[in-house]
Amino acid sequence: MTEHTALVVGASRGLGLGLVEEYLSRGWRVVATVRDDAGEAALQELPGADRLTVERADVADDADIARLAQHISKPLDLLFINAGVMGPSDMVSAAPDEIARVMHVNAFGPARLAWALVDKVVEGSGVVAFMSTGMGSIADNTSGGYDIYRASKAAQNMLARSLWIGPGQARGLAILSVNPGWVKTDMGGPGASIDVPTSVKGIADQIAAHAGKPGHRFIGWNGRELPW
Ligand SMILES: NC(=O)c1ccc[n+]([C@@H]2O[C@H](COP(=O)([O-])OP(=O)(O)OC[C@H]3O[C@@H](n4cnc5c(N)ncnc54)[C@H](OP(=O)(O)O)[C@@H]3O)[C@@H](O)[C@H]2O)c1
Repeated sequence: MTEHTALVVGASRGLGLGLVEEYLSRGWRVVATVRDDAGEAALQELPGADRLTVERADVADDADIARLAQHISKPLDLLFINAGVMGPSDMVSAAPDEIARVMHVNAFGPARLAWALVDKVVEGSGVVAFMSTGMGSIADNTSGGYDIYRASKAAQNMLARSLWIGPGQARGLAILSVNPGWVKTDMGGPGASIDVPTSVKGIADQIAAHAGKPGHRFIGWNGRELPW
């Protein structure tokens, strides 16, 4: 059987940790990134952790991205950039450096990481997934609120499109901007509509369905296509 390898960026907790658990349960090799020892602890408890390698990376740090790229020696069937932050809820009162931080962590950091690693993603069948959100859809924004977060994820969607137009298309990759649903995590809160296992199973099924189908799509965990 061919062994598959995934890199999950931002895997200490929530959806990232869930994605690592899901791919290990599917028999994949997984490289997972965290930012500190506390982030690594939960990963090492997962069943199948003998197929897991843990790396340190802050998605907004270019030196971390360069080191991560150097450490990835096996071809990647999946590069999944999950790391993200909500940031301040009110755009008008937020400090400019807080706004810049959210934009870097959610949009430009993931895009720069993707450009640094895209050559390692398997030509023809590889997938690059960005954790987006329904809140990043301009067409679906009928309520407003959380504008910094919304804008950062809309920017991420745009940067994912440019990745597709450049190396994504040249390498025949599927580039996915993924809405995980409203999920019970530290970010989603306890009142969210679905749990992590439900979301990550749906996402992994969608990734399997899109592998080998080059293009850039904005899809939900349940396969629903989202309007840009
Ligand atoms: N939960 C939802 O309902 C929902 C809905 C739509 C989209 N999303 C998206 O899904 C992704 C995961 O969210 P979640 O709900 O699992 O949130 P979470 O529980 O708050 O986890 C966020 C993850 O991102 C990591 N992270 C944050 N800043 C980072 C940085 N600068 N560099 C590297 N890693 C960083 C965190 O690592 P540390 O532990 O080191 O902080 C953690 O692993 C995010 O992109 C989020 O926007 C979530």
